[in-house]
Amino acid sequence: MPQSNLVMTKNWTPDSWRACEARQLPAYPDASALAAVESQLRSYPPLVFAGEARDLTERLASVAAGNAFLLQGGDCAESFAEFHPNTIRDTFRVLLQMAVTLTFASKMPVVKVGRMAGQFAKPRSGDFEEIDGVSLPSYRGDNVNDIEFTATARTPDPQRMVRGYLQMAATLNLLRAFASGGYANLHQVHKWNLDFAARSPWADQYALLADRIGEALDFMAAIGLSPDTVPQLKATSFFTSHEALLLGFEEAMTRQDSLTGDWYDTSAHMLWIGDRTRFAGSAHVEFLRGVGNPLGLKCGPSLEADDLLRLIDTLNPGNVPGRLTLITRFGHDKVDQHLPRLIRAVQREGRYVVWSCDPMHGNTIKAAGGLKTRPFDRILSEVKGFFAIHRAEGSHAGGIHLEMTGQDVTECTGGAVAISDEGLASRYQTQCDPRLNASQSLEMAFLIAEALKAERDAIASACAA
Ligand code: TRP
Ligand code: MN
Repeated sequence: MPQSNLVMTKNWTPDSWRACEARQLPAYPDASALAAVESQLRSYPPLVFAGEARDLTERLASVAAGNAFLLQGGDCAESFAEFHPNTIRDTFRVLLQMAVTLTFASKMPVVKVGRMAGQFAKPRSGDFEEIDGVSLPSYRGDNVNDIEFTATARTPDPQRMVRGYLQMAATLNLLRAFASGGYANLHQVHKWNLDFAARSPWADQYALLADRIGEALDFMAAIGLSPDTVPQLKATSFFTSHEALLLGFEEAMTRQDSLTGDWYDTSAHMLWIGDRTRFAGSAHVEFLRGVGNPLGLKCGPSLEADDLLRLIDTLNPGNVPGRLTLITRFGHDKVDQHLPRLIRAVQREGRYVVWSCDPMHGNTIKAAGGLKTRPFDRILSEVKGFFAIHRAEGSHAGGIHLEMTGQDVTECTGGAVAISDEGLASRYQTQCDPRLNASQSLEMAFLIAEALKAERDAIASACAA
């Protein structure tokens, strides 16, 4: 019998969030049209099965225990316009390439989770956007309204949720096919990495690591362990996640698991709560505390240790390892100031969490030309700070959460090809925040690999002493 993740979920129903303060939800002009769509969605098949969400929880429990690493990444916001098999394939491929590097460097399994197949709804700093004296509702993601700045496009339309559902189903279907159908073959992924390493301006730095992975694979093949004989080399497990922001949609996708009786939000394996919707009394916290999926909680500079502990009590009262991932996003210059106090509070209370680093959201700046960007060096510097602090606190730096794409965009400055402020405009395509492009993502993985190796060496020498 599968074990329940939910110890003591009292007074919760899929719609109990409706009595709480809900920020960041769209104001739909037609309540009955909204209700009709929600009831339609309730009749649609679940996208994931509860057992898969429990499987992910177990894998994350091993991250929490220091025996695995979490890699989570994808678009800031997926869009209807960019819905194409190649974009899905390319992001998936880059995540696999990163995972191989990280697995080899950490000597641990890497849990792969896409910000994919459902990352549609975006929190905004204001309800309205003003351009040249015209004020219209803010763009809130493609399953709410359209980014085009006209009154019609910006009016929230519930029908978009149906389109979102269908795009999620098709995306997830392709991801499942890639993960199990042969595309994720380890030898193939390694070949892509060799090709990337050879073409990179930082080729010398990567060649050593890529060669060692190649030797490990050759050795395994020589003793008879090849993708033909060992299924684990041919396939991988891949999970989906998004911010559970649009609560009407998430509620409609929430179903009771027949095996445990627990409720699961079947729109993705993992759901997270944003930094803007984690306040005391939040409808988003109320909704997610009752579903059995593994949860993420974004932790920004304004989060006090006491508030964090209260949120942990609410979201994971049973202290189930793997249930809760804390995704910290402070900024390269603030991580030193904020991360240690949160780690200490969690350690003091004996709480099991996965610590993951989002080095994107605290490092957004305006480039000279006015475009939003994130300098590669600042992203890397927050990641390095995250690793160093965890090592100093005796805690496991468990994972990384990136906004990235497999496409060759120019949205973040820096990296081996050194995108400049002026170069940003050439292929700036994001619907929302700037993403690392394919090369920058792989570079990040190689550089994180070095930090992971340092972590392993430090543990080894501490054990020897
Ligand atoms: N099945 C293993 C895993 O997922 C090994 C593996 C196969 C793999 N293909 C992969 C690892 C692609 C990373 C990327 O860990
Ligand atoms: Mn973002």
